Amino acid sequence: MPGVLPEGEPVPADGSLPATATRAVGARGFGVYVHVPFCASRCGYCDFNTYTADELGGGASREGYADTVLAELALAARVLGDAPPPRVDTVFVGGGTPTLLPADDLARILDGVDRTWGLAADAEVTTEANPESVTPESLKTLRAAGYTRISLGMQSAAPGVLAILDRRHRAGRATEAAREARDAGFDHVNLDLIYGTPGESADDFAASLAQVVAAGVDHVSAYALIVEDGTRLAARMRRGELPYPSDDVAADRYLAAEAALDAAGFSWYEVSNWARTPAGRCRHNLLYWNGGDWWGLGPGAHSHVGGVRWWNVKHPAAYAKRLAAGESPGLAREVLTPDEAHTEDVMLRLRLASGLPLAVLDDAGRAGARRALADGLLDPAGYAAGRAVLTLRGRLLADAVVRDLLP
Ligand SMILES: C[S@@+](CC[C@H](N)C(=O)[O-])C[C@H]1O[C@@H](n2cnc3c(N)ncnc32)[C@H](O)[C@@H]1O
Ligand code: SF4
Repeated sequence: MPGVLPEGEPVPADGSLPATATRAVGARGFGVYVHVPFCASRCGYCDFNTYTADELGGGASREGYADTVLAELALAARVLGDAPPPRVDTVFVGGGTPTLLPADDLARILDGVDRTWGLAADAEVTTEANPESVTPESLKTLRAAGYTRISLGMQSAAPGVLAILDRRHRAGRATEAAREARDAGFDHVNLDLIYGTPGESADDFAASLAQVVAAGVDHVSAYALIVEDGTRLAARMRRGELPYPSDDVAADRYLAAEAALDAAGFSWYEVSNWARTPAGRCRHNLLYWNGGDWWGLGPGAHSHVGGVRWWNVKHPAAYAKRLAAGESPGLAREVLTPDEAHTEDVMLRLRLASGLPLAVLDDAGRAGARRALADGLLDPAGYAAGRAVLTLRGRLLADAVVRDLLP
């Protein structure tokens, strides 16, 4: 979710979309994202749109949240009424901490999506979860309700690193929760790691990777720590209490992740994502990266349908107020120009192991691809097959390669 949004144009009160956008909804797949904007406490590094009980104020509550989301879903059903998606391929409930809601509320939201547009028989249905906010019982309820995949924020195996990140769970709880999820019948379990936290040693990260591998999960996401403006972590670094992360350390950690995960039978399929098998890849994220359509429900959620992108008001109280008045919670929208759509396509698909077809590049972009190939940043076999596929060194320098391929 970008921190700074373009201003965009207003979303009509009834949420209606231009006819050009709704001609072929779901032609490249259709997903539903549900944002759950609640956390028990805020981690010092996180700038996601999420609120603790104290920050929530009046006008919104966890108790009423599932019904508010279902009200937006009813509005979405009206907007896409004449041209609904053929089916829902993926659902992703993210946050915040979705598992702060009772499992029955998460079940009700999923049931609402199914009743509205119909879940595909093989739909992927993910929820994010904080390790301390699930139990064997709640995991069984989620599995029985139709959730097929769970994504747990582990971040690190090292107690000192978890403390710097302000995580609430003890070391070891994330992998324990992953095992509980597998026992509850989840075939697809992800663990998120953050690397490059000040105070994290190479041995700490090696231990995190070893624990992830031993937990038997089929998916790992590993992100370099981003110091977001306005966070407590950024303030501590500005005051000199903690050092800023180093690019060289982040590159070393990335290489360590690739080596350990590859040795354990995982393959990268996006720069920050590894899966044990093709079936373990996150289809919802692949839908985003491949330019599919999705409706994002919840405060601050983004949607994309047929080249129109919009985003909702951020505060849960403002979101609930709009829906109570029968109005769209959409704050603003933009219709992507062909140039913007091209830039986005290059940025997203170049990060995939399947690569970007060279045919989508203009002359300048193809010249850039030839330079990146000569510099060892693109894979020769992929290039010979007509695709720009990053090498391992290219993955470390992905943003620079993107710049080379764009006008
Ligand atoms: C927004 S969280 C939601 C999941 C859940 N609340 C949790 O924290 O476990 C999704 C993931 O984003 C990653 N993340 C959030 N802020 C980050 C930051 N500043 N730098 C790197 N990764 C970050 C973390 O790995 C986290 O697990
Ligand atoms: S629990 Fe997750 S969403 Fe909540 S503040 Fe921490 S990282 Fe952000």
